[in-house]
Amino acid sequence: MHTLKGMNVKEDLAGAWCNGNLLLTSLMEAVSFVTPVVEKFMIHAVADEMRARDEPALRQRCLDFIREEAVHSRTHGKFNAALLKHLGAEPPGIAAIRAATAGARRHLSVSSRLGLAAAIEHLAAVMSGAYLSYDEEIGVASPFAKALFELHAREEIGHCSVVFDLWRERWPAGRRQRIVAIMAVLLPGVLYLAAAVPWVLYRKTGRTLPTTLGALRTSVGVGRLGKWAGNLATVFFSFVRADYHPDRLDHAPLRA
Ligand SMILES: [Fe+2]
Ligand SMILES: [Fe+2]
Repeated sequence: MHTLKGMNVKEDLAGAWCNGNLLLTSLMEAVSFVTPVVEKFMIHAVADEMRARDEPALRQRCLDFIREEAVHSRTHGKFNAALLKHLGAEPPGIAAIRAATAGARRHLSVSSRLGLAAAIEHLAAVMSGAYLSYDEEIGVASPFAKALFELHAREEIGHCSVVFDLWRERWPAGRRQRIVAIMAVLLPGVLYLAAAVPWVLYRKTGRTLPTTLGALRTSVGVGRLGKWAGNLATVFFSFVRADYHPDRLDHAPLRA
């Protein structure tokens, strides 16, 4: 991600910069806005746990994770600033997620916060695997966005076991804790996307309902979507399996 340090967003992001598809572009923009908010939550959870441990190797692993997520957040911040030029505001739901993560930080134990962070990291790794599975086919018109999403996806898969190992070492998490953690992350995530993606699409299509609906119709290809969504759900919920570990996460079904 450090390779993006010298890069700036020069291109116009008002149109369908992701695969010429307005719906996919709106999804990527909505994801980019929420990224720094959830990364901040995870950085604090890992930092709080790191302070309670004095194993040098573990502390180094935590520090590397924190630095990597901090760079992700800064880079998405730069990208989001460019998106704001045409969107005019952050998508709805960002303020609620910001408040929820701040509340969780104040009121939940480190163990609960690490459980949520492990579930977020799992979802990020699944989405990264899905993105990289189609990396060569997806045409990204913005060089900055292409570098950002590619590098971020690779680094998410690379470090996704850090939080899970931290959580599992001190609090062996059973099936019930994992179900609670994944649902506590998945439900707000789905609600956020359900509000944010149509809002972004509406703003990108001249803020009129007929053009938004027209763009939606031409953006959705039904084809293999149903089967693919089923495979995606299977990989998502592998988090609750007794033998789950992020290093063994199988991304192959996402290519089907
Ligand atoms: Fe990240
Ligand atoms: Fe991450």
